[in-house]
Amino acid sequence: MRLQGKIAVVTGAGGGFGEGIAQRFAQEGAKVVVTDINAAAAERVARAVGGVAAVGDVSKGEDVRAMVAAAEALGGLDIVVNNAGTTHKNGKMLDVDEATFDRVYAVNVKSIYWMMHAALPVFRRQGRGGSIIHISSTAGIRPRPGLVWYNGTKGALNTMTQCMALELAPENIRVNAICPVMGATGLLEQFMGLPDTPENRAKFLASIPLGRMSRPSDIANACVWLAEDASSFITGVLLPVDGGRTA
Ligand SMILES: NC(=O)c1ccc[n+]([C@@H]2O[C@H](COP(=O)([O-])OP(=O)(O)OC[C@H]3O[C@@H](n4cnc5c(N)ncnc54)[C@H](O)[C@@H]3O)[C@@H](O)[C@H]2O)c1
Repeated sequence: MRLQGKIAVVTGAGGGFGEGIAQRFAQEGAKVVVTDINAAAAERVARAVGGVAAVGDVSKGEDVRAMVAAAEALGGLDIVVNNAGTTHKNGKMLDVDEATFDRVYAVNVKSIYWMMHAALPVFRRQGRGGSIIHISSTAGIRPRPGLVWYNGTKGALNTMTQCMALELAPENIRVNAICPVMGATGLLEQFMGLPDTPENRAKFLASIPLGRMSRPSDIANACVWLAEDASSFITGVLLPVDGGRTA
């Protein structure tokens, strides 16, 4: 069990990649705080993985503090996975209204500000380091057309990952990002801007050398490695999990 005795907060774990991460962490012995804005989803996954649910919106400081408090109630905090994210529909940049723009930045970027405010004091008090993993995207390394504002949030996340890693290295708090290529989760149709048909998927698959989309298990396996002590010398990395898309 690679994460035995560790306590993790996984945001947006009520479905998609986050659910896969919560499942793998639990299989490896971690206690998991399953957080999501969707209460029913958070509770379903928490039950399935033997964890605890913390319902809330990652763009709200108070909610994020409650997520970290739920981990402390389990005994502490070792791992944070900032996975919750949202997008606008693929299309022309001027077609995205201000409210949508603000929401995408609040959920994908401001959430990190709140999580660092909530989690760092706990890591510091414990004095045993920690692992912070951001679920970014290939969109922040090699963008596709049609997702200007979303891609920008992932570019911001990649830069924040490297800067945070530098600032926190003296405290042995590691910060890494995983950059998945497109996966068949709840966000897929918005990312494609097209109906989810085999023909439309084929257009995107053509640019992925290994010939398939990412799966939650791909992202979860990378997270286990970045969370465990075997990666103790790895920080500031933007790890594509992308079937060769960005090579
Ligand atoms: N699916 C892809 O193709 C893909 C590719 C690269 C990166 N990503 C990133 O992976 C992460 C997870 O996305 P996914 O594809 O699993 O999507 P998803 O929609 O299947 O899952 C996201 C989960 O986050 C929750 N959530 C949304 N907004 C929230 C908020 N404000 N507070 C708390 N929870 C919230 C949702 O309820 C949902 O359960 C996102 O950061 C996304 O940008 C996805």
